[in-house]
Amino acid sequence: MAIFRLSSSLRSFCNRFPSSCLRHRAVRVSTEPQAAISRLKELGLLKSQGLIGGKWLDAYDGKKIQVQNPATSEVITSVPCMGRRETSDAIMSSFGAFHSWSKLTAGERSKYLRKWYDLIILHKESLALLITLEQGKPLKEALGEVIYGASFIEFYAEEAKRIYGDIIPPTLGDRRLFVLKQPVGVVGAIAPWNFPLAMITRKVGPALASGCTAVVKPSEFTPLTALAAAELALQAGIPSGALNVVMGNAPEIGDTLLESDQVRKITFTGSTNVGKKLMAGAANTVKKVSLELGGNAPCIIFDDADLDLAVKGSLAAKFRNTGQTCVCANRILVQEGIYDKFADAFANAVENLQVGNGLAEGTAQGPLINEAAVQKVESFISDATSKGAKIMLGGRRHSLGMTFYEPTVLTHVNGEMLISREEVFGPVAPLLKFRTEEEAIRLANDTNAGLAAYIFTSSIPRSWRVAEALEYGLVGVNEGIISTEVAPFGGVKQSGLGREGSKYGMDEYLEIKYVCMGNIKNE
Ligand code: SIN
Repeated sequence: MAIFRLSSSLRSFCNRFPSSCLRHRAVRVSTEPQAAISRLKELGLLKSQGLIGGKWLDAYDGKKIQVQNPATSEVITSVPCMGRRETSDAIMSSFGAFHSWSKLTAGERSKYLRKWYDLIILHKESLALLITLEQGKPLKEALGEVIYGASFIEFYAEEAKRIYGDIIPPTLGDRRLFVLKQPVGVVGAIAPWNFPLAMITRKVGPALASGCTAVVKPSEFTPLTALAAAELALQAGIPSGALNVVMGNAPEIGDTLLESDQVRKITFTGSTNVGKKLMAGAANTVKKVSLELGGNAPCIIFDDADLDLAVKGSLAAKFRNTGQTCVCANRILVQEGIYDKFADAFANAVENLQVGNGLAEGTAQGPLINEAAVQKVESFISDATSKGAKIMLGGRRHSLGMTFYEPTVLTHVNGEMLISREEVFGPVAPLLKFRTEEEAIRLANDTNAGLAAYIFTSSIPRSWRVAEALEYGLVGVNEGIISTEVAPFGGVKQSGLGREGSKYGMDEYLEIKYVCMGNIKNE
């Protein structure tokens, strides 16, 4: 509620720009979000220290990094630039807490998580505001992320009570065989900037539920939401040391987590390159690893698709979070019979996306996270156009400046262009043409990535055939947004290992122990 009170000046500003009169409607926000920041401070949710062993701490050498609002470049606050020493202490405190946390009953852990969930929901508007300030996504989308992020805590609070083992029928009459599931131990959780809350709760929810403790490293671009969530975890009574947050020098923090024998599991969401390094680094101490890495999602529109559904679904799949999700449609493959009709309808819809500061009402596309992200988008577009792609819409930095980019549609795209081979992670939709179902499947699978894929068709047999043939971990049929806490999220090939969310997400934090009781003689 605080948000809406605070943003009334933004609202009146937006009212002066009626939506109907603008193409790529640009909303300039002149109002400084200082009032919002003050309110977050009052609530104790604007933290500017790391959390180690239940204490809020600065970096031991006093170094700091600034957290900037990508929509304005303004500094929101500074956080400590932590490294090896702080990470070692966080691991030690996590290791200490593991012994007592893992001994609680599942029901007891569940109550703490439930309380944490309730607090996140209670403060959902404040957390959403923090996400928009540090990450840039529109406030409405940020609120959606808070609900999505909280859902992992709620789900695993419930799932904690269902970590069942097995009894195996023995092969010898005097034996009894059991399988126990036990927490792996201390978890190092390395999270990205594109979902500052949800990618943390998706890891920490099952970790804590299963009895593990965690050292979390949020992105240096977006640490504030993680710190606010950690503050709420403390308020929920989650014991000191069970959840630690360190940030700053990413290579030092990563190496310290990897080298520690006490850290038994690394979970990471981010780029494929970093994921490979973490996987290699984890080999030395043989840690369990789960990796949620880059994608190159195909979105296949067949001639028999419902056009409105296909436009709506592919728009959502492509432009969610300004194209900055691992499951964003990276290539839109359109069958030749519907290509022109689809391209026109899609470009029309894209043209109506309102670009602006995420705090402004009506904004559908925020800024990109930083200048490097914009340069990547530019280089992909220039590679594509140099090889024959045509810009149907957009294709330039937005007049708002900073890291705002015009939502872009490219046609005449082929499989040789960089944009078809790698994740653009920005608001660019390349349209490729195909003839047959077989060709669509071949093009879709012609990548090392295998996270998400989307199909739009009215044919049920085709839905099954294509969903089965796609080499991807997630497939959306006639849907552009398919993520949910109750379903397994994760990729195949170089998109990662393991699954997050759902009952399968819990397994990533559990070891299986076989117990054989022998010599049970009949009396
Ligand atoms: C991601 O981009 O890594 C996560 C997206 C999602 O959970 O839907």
